[in-house]
Parts: sequence; C-alpha cells; structure tokens
Amino acid sequence: MSARNHEQWSSPPKLAEGEWVDSRIYSDQAIFEEENEKIFKHAWIPVCHESELKDAYAFRTMTIANEPVIVVRGKDMQVRAFLNVCPHRGNMIERRPSGNFKDGTPSGTPKRMTCMFHAWQFDMKGKCVYISRQEEGYQDRLCTADVGLRELKCEVYFGGFVWVCLDDNIEMTVEDWAAGALDCLAPSLNEEPLEVFHYHKAIIPCNYKLWHDTNCEFYHDFLHYHNRITGFNDAYFARKNSGFKNGHINVGSFEVQYDNYEGFHSREELSFPHLPPNHWYMIDMFPGVNFNLRGSALRCDLMTPLGPDKVMIEFRGLGLASDTPEERQTRIDHHNSIWGPFGRNLHEDLIAVTAQGSCMHPNAEKRNILQGRHENETIHDENGMRHYYHEWGRWLNRSPSNPDEEFDESLIAQSSGEQAAVQASA
Ligand code: FES
Ligand SMILES: [Fe+2]
Repeated sequence: MSARNHEQWSSPPKLAEGEWVDSRIYSDQAIFEEENEKIFKHAWIPVCHESELKDAYAFRTMTIANEPVIVVRGKDMQVRAFLNVCPHRGNMIERRPSGNFKDGTPSGTPKRMTCMFHAWQFDMKGKCVYISRQEEGYQDRLCTADVGLRELKCEVYFGGFVWVCLDDNIEMTVEDWAAGALDCLAPSLNEEPLEVFHYHKAIIPCNYKLWHDTNCEFYHDFLHYHNRITGFNDAYFARKNSGFKNGHINVGSFEVQYDNYEGFHSREELSFPHLPPNHWYMIDMFPGVNFNLRGSALRCDLMTPLGPDKVMIEFRGLGLASDTPEERQTRIDHHNSIWGPFGRNLHEDLIAVTAQGSCMHPNAEKRNILQGRHENETIHDENGMRHYYHEWGRWLNRSPSNPDEEFDESLIAQSSGEQAAVQASA
C-alpha cells in the first residue's frame, strides 16, 4: 500500500494504546483551560532564579496559569511570592517585569509595594501597611490587618531556582515533587552559587507540550547538524532515558565531541563542579520546564502556556557566580553558540515546533501523533513522551489518545514500558 485515503489516515495507528496521542490535545481550547485549572495551578513552577533578585527589595513579576504573581526579596533577604493583585479592587499592583522597590517612584513609596490605583501600600512580607484615608472611609470596620496580600508557597531550591505553587494545599515540598529527577545534577548545581547571565523569551505559535516534547525525545537529533557531528557514536546511543514519579524524565549523559564541529572546542576548563568534562545531562519536569547542562553552561526553559496554540518560553543561561569576566565571556560564548537566539540549535527546534503548530491549530482535523519507538529506554526511545502523557492523562482524567474518553491507567501501563522505567529509577 502507498498513500492512504481519509479513512485510512484517520483510523487508529497500528500501535498499542499509549503509543500515540490525539492532536486535539495540542489545539483544543477547553483542554488548554483545563490544563491551567487542573495542572498549572497545582504544580511547583521554577518561576525565576534567585540571582535575578540579588538585593533586598528586588522583585520580578510573572504569571502562572494566567494569575499574576510577584516574587520579592525582603529586607531579611528572604524570597517570598504573592499574587500580584491588590486586595482593594483587584488591580495588578506591579506592572514592570522586574525592578527594585528600594527607591520611590512618582506613584510608589520607597520600600513598599504601592498599588497606583488608590495608593494602598504593602511591605515585602505582604502585610498591608497603609490604606489611604482609612479612618474617613472605613471608620473601625476595616483596617490594614484585614487586607494583606495573598501569599503563595515559595521555595528556593536546586541551584537557587525560585519555585512557586498556587495551591496552598500541595502536600509535597519541591524535593518531593522532583521525586529524584533532579538528583543527577544536584551536586553540580548546589556546590556554589549560580548566576543568570542570559535571558530571552519567545512567544511561539504552538502548544506548550510540543516544546516539551522536543526536550523529552532525542530522536529529533536528526534535525540538529551540530548534535549529529558531535554526538552520534556508541556512547550517545546508549544514553538512558529514565522516567520518574510525577511525570519527570532524565536523559543520561555522555561525552560530547565538540572538537568535531568546526570552530568549536572542548568545554573541559569551565566544567560545572562534579561534572565529567564535556558531559551533557537533561532533566524535563512536568508540566513544562527543562534543565539542560552542557559542560560549562546551564540552560533552563520555562514554558508559560498562553493559549492552545501559543506558548511563551523563557530561556535562561546560567554560570557560576564566581566566574572571572574572562570565564564568564567564554561561558556566554558556549551557551549562545548553541542555545542563544542565533545559536546553532535553538532556532532549529523552534522551526520544527512552529511547523508542527501550523498543522495543529484549533480548526485542524484531528491527527494521530506517534510516540511508539521502543529502544530499550535509550535516547531514541520515545518513552519520555509516553511517560509525560501518562501523567498528563492522570491529571486531566482524559485519555491522551482519545481525549473524549476517561483515562484508563491499566491500558496505558501495559504498553508504554513506563512503569518499568519509573521503578528502575526510583
Ligand atoms: S485597587 Fe489597589 S488601592 Fe485600589
Ligand atoms: Fe532539539
């Protein structure tokens, strides 16, 4: 048989349940909204890095599941997170992406978060410290103690990342949430303070999970000329792809042959602590974050879904805070030559997911997206994606291969090989 007609093209693939997904999970508005409600509002999200809030009164703003969030460093140097929403009439308190409250502004009192609408003020612990014309308007019916900000769960963990969770009732710490997935990089990232040296963001016309998929599978290294030249050898094909509880995965390391690519050199001299020279680990965390350490530079991608077919990806590059200016420049060169906005690899991935996104827009006919490669849970196996969608199905109680149906744990566990991976890595 050669090409297929519509009926053949639309019928279920010749693979087992759990080895493909329905493309509507990448395009459906209701599913997107449900993901925000059921997943993003209940997961730990590493919203930024502590080095972006170096001084007391420094702040950074972001959103989680469309909710405005502000992260601030107090006078006591502790980092705290709040909803960036005024308790008076629901105005967004701070609209700048980052800054410092130490100095006043025309509508802001020094060392306070000031809502510009009616000038209520809050300290760095979220306590309301000033209500304009309080007694005149509220007499003794309402006072500052009644109108503090909504504080959010916040932990600084794993090399200084600031993790926030909107759910007060989450029972897991970030360590529990990671379930061992961060262990392979923890010694390298926790040895000494890190610093963000690169930040850029991109708004991409595709579903956030398509970006996460590119990080979860390495079969697409055929897309990356650099990776083929510096990587395709026995050690590369033996890299393990391991699943962890809560939908996270690791891609094991090997030694990259940077010298094989014209103009590139070994990164041994600036290796992160405890990392063998030129090694390369990846960690993909549910629902949309990636830590990627290539010898001398750490990259972190954070995905913020903006719509079923729109995602904001924030890319951070990190090095050691102790770098000399020369070391820092070399690290930046290493990072940017592969992962900068004009780097060798990043735009290749962006072109691929944008092309996927253009075939999976909200009005597109549903398609079957295959993830059925089995290669002994090594790098070209697609077990990382299967593991992710198994978790996704559980959180939404929808079958990834037929989102109109409820999730059936037993059907997927049989075919994905995912259980074995989780147990092996537990
Ligand atoms: S809405 Fe913030 S002070 Fe009124
Ligand atoms: Fe890639």
